[in-house]
Amino acid sequence: MAKLISSWAGGHNQDLPEHYILPPHERPGDLINVLPCDSIPVIDLGKVLSDGGDRTNIIQQILNASREFGFFQVINHGVSESLMDDAMRLFNEFFELPGEDKEYIYSEDSRKSCRVFTGSDYQIGPTQFWRDTLRHPCFPLEDSIQSWPIKPDRYRDIVSKYSVEVRKLSLKILELISIGLGMDEGYFGEEFIQIQNISVNHYPPCPNPRLTLGIRNHCDPNLITILQQGDVQGLQVFKDGNWIGVRPVPYSFVVNMGNLLQVISNGKLRSVEHRAVTNSECARTSIATFLMPSFDYCVEPAKSLVSESYPPIFKPFKYMEFIREYLSNTDNPQAVLDHFKL
Ligand code: OGA
Ligand code: NI
Repeated sequence: MAKLISSWAGGHNQDLPEHYILPPHERPGDLINVLPCDSIPVIDLGKVLSDGGDRTNIIQQILNASREFGFFQVINHGVSESLMDDAMRLFNEFFELPGEDKEYIYSEDSRKSCRVFTGSDYQIGPTQFWRDTLRHPCFPLEDSIQSWPIKPDRYRDIVSKYSVEVRKLSLKILELISIGLGMDEGYFGEEFIQIQNISVNHYPPCPNPRLTLGIRNHCDPNLITILQQGDVQGLQVFKDGNWIGVRPVPYSFVVNMGNLLQVISNGKLRSVEHRAVTNSECARTSIATFLMPSFDYCVEPAKSLVSESYPPIFKPFKYMEFIREYLSNTDNPQAVLDHFKL
């Protein structure tokens, strides 16, 4: 039996199967149409990537956005438009493959490193979410590449280039953040980012977007996420009690702070709840890159950010402990970090 939505959905006059229908208070309803908000800053990284540019102003923009929204977008970020196009085309082709060419890596076991799955890993109860996901590690390349899909043909070629470029970009952004916060510039160096996963979300056209979600509200359980949202709107961010849409900006990446950055910055930066709504018109594919330390890394507020007048607000914990807590708290994303507060 075909498991992935992209393998079975799309017939005419199809109804939304009952197990996708959320309880009334969790349905997005009219909010599927919220207008995209222009207040989430679009930051031009061109000047910091070319030598000699003034970093101070850009660092300030990044910090302001990270404090206020937990989100910003970047343009002129150094990842070429042709590579972004290649990657998006490739992943769309992947989800358009006939069932057997993608379902052979289907697995519901989250310990499996490369897999496709459907619904969500942020699931509670029997309700399914309207998305298929392909996820696998990308670092170190030589250790992970063997597990990747073999179709479409250029998969390994394009995804390895993409992973290297997005890694460079994320290290740059993390460096700017660490400078802005007054931390050691090398805090988030090559060594820090031991895990880099690509997680491609595919939301086929949905028969009734008002009754379901693509991804439920969640915070990302990592350090930072770099998302190629593509051209189709769907990402929403929770801000002051409202859901706001993130406008698709051509060839931009959406950047958001994960829970760990909130801890390491001792609460100066925020990891903010977000979700994805679906639409009935067209498929939407988004490419998320999740960056994090190894599971045995001890996460704690950076020493340079705590003092007698700014005592630490989180206790040290192993990243693994956090993941365990995260998975048992999916119904209340805000509550997870409370377990690690002092
Ligand atoms: C995620 C996520 C949003 C999107 O994968 O964690 O929030 O727009 N994705 O697909
Ligand atoms: Ni997310």
